[in-house]
Amino acid sequence: MRFAFFGDIVGRSGREGLAEHLPHLRRRLGLDFVVVNAENAAAGFGITEKTAGELFAAGADCLTLGNHAWDQREALTYIVREPRMIRPLNYPAASEAPGRGAQLFETEAGLRVLVVNLLGRVHMEPLLDDPFAAVDAELAACALGHAADAVIVDMHAEATSEKMAMGHFCDGRASLVIGTHTHVPSADGQILVGGTAYQSDAGACADYDSVIGNQKEEPLRRFTTRISGGRFQPAEGPATVCGVFVETDPASGLARRIEPIRIGGRLSQTVPDAPAAARLTPAPTP
Ligand SMILES: [Fe+2]
Ligand SMILES: [Fe+2]
Repeated sequence: MRFAFFGDIVGRSGREGLAEHLPHLRRRLGLDFVVVNAENAAAGFGITEKTAGELFAAGADCLTLGNHAWDQREALTYIVREPRMIRPLNYPAASEAPGRGAQLFETEAGLRVLVVNLLGRVHMEPLLDDPFAAVDAELAACALGHAADAVIVDMHAEATSEKMAMGHFCDGRASLVIGTHTHVPSADGQILVGGTAYQSDAGACADYDSVIGNQKEEPLRRFTTRISGGRFQPAEGPATVCGVFVETDPASGLARRIEPIRIGGRLSQTVPDAPAAARLTPAPTP
């Protein structure tokens, strides 16, 4: 099975970048399933039904969220009607968060994909439930290779250490553990010893002539003067669409390959070679 995960969509730039590049990436890489982190899709803050619709139309099969999940209040009701969008799993029960933190999908080819969205606690909201205990219960209830053909865990967190620990915690039980939230792609894509693909951050789908996707002026003003002069606004130049491509073993659901994707905009470009079975022209016979 082949799937891709794309990091935080930031505003219009990120949405338009995904719409421009995902359709041809889906064909070229023969993708069975696509997950997109959408917590910054609506002008950098949260998600609306309209912006979610653009991402689904571009080819996303599942949207995940993060600490900005509820910045747009309509997300609280929209998520109840849209099972393809999930929010972090580990809100405390007292928060009565709507929607789900994990969802089992079925692809067109009949493959079962479990997606889990987690929030880290280090340098973030400390009153969340333990993400390790939360994911443990989901992985036990829907075992990779048995109840699911692929398991994808979005670990939305600030601290790389917490993300790496989550990778090892899920190693052998998930196809991919991918970090989101820092808005910068990390260069540590690897298959862990137990067979789980891992990368500390997928990177954002955003204009990188920015401060993590925002226009530079306001962050610079705050850093240099400590005085806020206005709202953060997403940068509006062409996005680099950032994510990872993963190929799994059909029997075990574990990863055989993880490759970075960076296309469009100003970051150095990389798109994986098309998998053999997805190539349109057969290889010449010797
Ligand atoms: Fe984000
Ligand atoms: Fe975030």
